[in-house]
Amino acid sequence: MQGNFSYYNPTKLYFGDESLNFLKDELKGYGPVVMLNYGSGSVKRNGIYDQVVAILREAGKTVVENPGVMTNPTLEKLNEGVKIARENDVDLILALGGGSVCDYSKAVAASVFYEGDYWDKFWLRQENPPEGQKLLPVGCVLTMAGTGSEMNAGTVITDASINLKMGHVFDSRLMPKFSILNPKFTMTVPENQMKAGIYDIMNHIMEQYFSDFDDNTSDYLSEGLMRSVIHSSRIAVKNPQDYEARSNIMWTATWALNTLVGKGKQQDWMVHMIGHSVGAWTHAPHGYALASVSMAYYRRAMKNGLPKFVRFAKNVWNISGEGVSDEQTAEKGLEALKQWMLEIGLPLTISELGATDDMIAGITETTVVYPAGYLNLTKEDITEILKESM
Ligand code: NZQ
Ligand code: ZN
Repeated sequence: MQGNFSYYNPTKLYFGDESLNFLKDELKGYGPVVMLNYGSGSVKRNGIYDQVVAILREAGKTVVENPGVMTNPTLEKLNEGVKIARENDVDLILALGGGSVCDYSKAVAASVFYEGDYWDKFWLRQENPPEGQKLLPVGCVLTMAGTGSEMNAGTVITDASINLKMGHVFDSRLMPKFSILNPKFTMTVPENQMKAGIYDIMNHIMEQYFSDFDDNTSDYLSEGLMRSVIHSSRIAVKNPQDYEARSNIMWTATWALNTLVGKGKQQDWMVHMIGHSVGAWTHAPHGYALASVSMAYYRRAMKNGLPKFVRFAKNVWNISGEGVSDEQTAEKGLEALKQWMLEIGLPLTISELGATDDMIAGITETTVVYPAGYLNLTKEDITEILKESM
């Protein structure tokens, strides 16, 4: 195992169909004013909002509501949330929703007490809040599995005026203080979002797995997580109400991106960079945008990363590799990935998401590119990948 690293994850998790019961005790640790961030109304329709607000009221909290956090939250909405938090002397931010609401809540938490231009500092310049700057604590009640935002310091914000979707992973100060993961809450997630979340999980693991060639415990953990999500996804697409499958998907999502399986790894993340840009232009669900460019990307990466792609084929997809070349084994692994994506109903092209030929220059332009994984791409390569993904 190469590299030197630290591992610290301060997020306390409550998992299971009774996990919301722990919210009341958690709330004791925070002051009286709770900012409640949520999305476009699903939590009101499925009753989770009522349950959470009842607990907040019982705990004597003043609830400052901030609804309307959209999927792929915008800078404009961030500005609105920062203003609300500043005006109301908020003590705790409670995110009630999926990755978008969790990400957004961390973004507000980082920005409320920053006096300068927080978009420029945190997202454009990729810096962290200065030491000693006050940060608001964040708690999450997660309603959708996928991003891992419930146990990481990632925040993805879009400047919609220029279609620029920027992620920033803050330091551990911005990790949620606690997250409540009730798999039953995910049962009402629309089918397309469930599938998008499943691919997001798979791709988070792949982004970390497809780098380096050393023997690393992280890769063995990743292979187990990938096998679990493939297995559970097949059950969940047939029967979305299968609690066992949905609970495994939720738990896998958390471990796929709570920094553990990236330890000692260079990591890749270029599918995410291209996917973010596709998402900003097409407004596709995050996981769909990733799926749509993955095959073209991994076929390229396979050439430089052959031993790892052979291992992926054998250990994740049970391909024997006997009697064929390494290239053929690796290709069979990618073919198995593709067949699984088709089986669960993921888009394999960006045109399915509404991308048109005249968008390719713009999507290329807003893709953040850096040397990563097994590739050192140029902007021309990004254009080629997008064309191959049409
Ligand atoms: O708006 P609401 O009403 O909340 O509806 C949401 C939204 O329309 C709906 N939904 C969520 N839970 C539901 C539900 N509908 C019915 N029942 C429920 N229980 O699903 C839709 C999608 O929700 P969203 O939160 O946008 O999805 P997701 O969890 O995939 O989050 C996507 C965002 O996370 C970012 C993405 O870029 C994107 O902005 N990411 C964050 C990461 C991180 N923090 O580390 C990493 C990821 O790679 C990703 O980039
Ligand atoms: Zn993702």
